[in-house]
Amino acid sequence: MIDDLWYKNGVIYCLSVGTYMDANGDGIGDFRGLLRRLDYLNGLGITTIWLMPFQPSPGRDNGYDISDYYGVDPRYGTLGDFVEFAHGCKQRGMRVIIDLVVNHTSDQHGWFQSARSTKDSPHRDWYVWSDKRPANADKGMVFPGVQKSTWTRDKRAGAWYFHRFYDFQPDLNTSNPHVQAEILKIMGFWIQLGVSGFRMDAVPFVISTKGAKVRKPVEQYDMLRSFREFLQWRQGDAIILAEANVLPETDMNYFGRDGERMQMMFNFQVNQNLFYALASGDSRPLTKSLAATKPRPATAQWGLFLRNHDELDLGRLTKAQRETVFKAFGPDKSMQLYDRGIRRRLAPMLGGDRRRLELAYSLMCTLPGTPVIRYGDELGMGDDLALPERNCARTPMQWSTEPHAGFTESDRPCVPVIDKGAYGYEHVNAAKQRRDPNSLLNWTERIIRMRKEVPEVGWGDFKVITVRDPAMLIIQYDWRNNSVLFIHNLAEPPREVAFSVGLPGEAGKLLVNLLTEDHSRADDRGRHKLLIEGYGYRWYRVGGLDYLLKRSDIDTKTPRLPR
Ligand code: GLC
Ligand code: CA
Repeated sequence: MIDDLWYKNGVIYCLSVGTYMDANGDGIGDFRGLLRRLDYLNGLGITTIWLMPFQPSPGRDNGYDISDYYGVDPRYGTLGDFVEFAHGCKQRGMRVIIDLVVNHTSDQHGWFQSARSTKDSPHRDWYVWSDKRPANADKGMVFPGVQKSTWTRDKRAGAWYFHRFYDFQPDLNTSNPHVQAEILKIMGFWIQLGVSGFRMDAVPFVISTKGAKVRKPVEQYDMLRSFREFLQWRQGDAIILAEANVLPETDMNYFGRDGERMQMMFNFQVNQNLFYALASGDSRPLTKSLAATKPRPATAQWGLFLRNHDELDLGRLTKAQRETVFKAFGPDKSMQLYDRGIRRRLAPMLGGDRRRLELAYSLMCTLPGTPVIRYGDELGMGDDLALPERNCARTPMQWSTEPHAGFTESDRPCVPVIDKGAYGYEHVNAAKQRRDPNSLLNWTERIIRMRKEVPEVGWGDFKVITVRDPAMLIIQYDWRNNSVLFIHNLAEPPREVAFSVGLPGEAGKLLVNLLTEDHSRADDRGRHKLLIEGYGYRWYRVGGLDYLLKRSDIDTKTPRLPR
């Protein structure tokens, strides 16, 4: 089947090695532990594992402060263990992408140590310096409330250095050709060890002009093209998934008009409006964000996610919309972060309500893009608000009812396992849910399987079928004479909805339900009338008389990109 652009229809699963599975009992997750869990992930239907940073790091920002790009942090294992892991994935037909964190290094990195030691250091110009305190030193912080400035004076260097993030993360001078060459070298290294691409961290900042004199930073988009070209030369099917929380107007600058830059980007616009839709029961802003982010090259794809390892950033919503989401999902100040977001996990945000969880996952799987699942969300794991900042949603994976959820045999796990309340590991764990045919885990496995059987979502052209009720979202995909249709009821009360599928002849008269036996036949006027339960969802294949015939097209035709 159409597999060359594998990322158009994958299912990505994000995890951090340190909190997934500990094999040697020292309390820290490791590659050997992860290797033992590959069959679990394969069984769930995951096609791609996204590993969060695992390179040597002082670990002050969950590994996003790297001190050596060419190694594995000894706490997680060795390079040899990494290769065994990569091989284990390959054996099972799963791909691996890894974080590429090159906007900044750790202040412990050898380059920074050398750069600060003397002005003549070959690495001096790898960072961004100023002799005096720049006028804008208290502007542009990414972590307001926690981070005080973006410039800090370094005594050793006798100068100020720029840091977009925390002060222990000095920004690399990415305009320096030596730094650019090093970034390519890092990519080449991990490609050679078997990864299929990178989740590139903080892309707008990587490509931005930096310096004390820069009043208005400008994005140097051409850099994206050179990253992309290098990757393609080394390995044709490798991709970059960009973390870029930007406005829809600039999306095309990141993808490239002809798809010559990033293959994938996270859709932050849809993410925020999706949470607004879940909070308010109003799908209209979500529909607008779908339209705004619709233009993209045929080879490009969105990464569609619900929660990630950071706070749920609501900064792109209006103030009133943001308040609505806060009120519904994070009313307490302790649940909020950086004046813009909510730091909780998905399940507690949705009150542990199975109907709402299924609704959210169903949306993630059927909105335009490739779903990106956060580890533990397949079980409905909770958070620990006693942990600082974003750490509350980064607790160890809950495997079983054994001590510390079976994550480790040590009495001192690196991060405390959730052991109290409704989300404690005795209630929420993989072993228990595996045995229960009605568990969220088994439901997720089934929905992933079905998502893979509707390649139209990844490949097709979509349109939103407008109905009067703002709580209803109906989205249709067309691809090569095949259509699928997804209906979601965002509100708690059941809703009746009537609509017709705008296709000629018999097509569109029959909607074949993909999840139950409950199909729909149109009335004489070609209208479907359905009753959708509160928070309900329907997945249909649009079929006329020749439905089966058309279905087989998908498997036999040679791949062709939509124009
Ligand atoms: C990205 C990561 C975040 C990290 C930051 C600095 O935003 O998602 O976790 O703190 O970059 O690397
Ligand atoms: Ca360990």
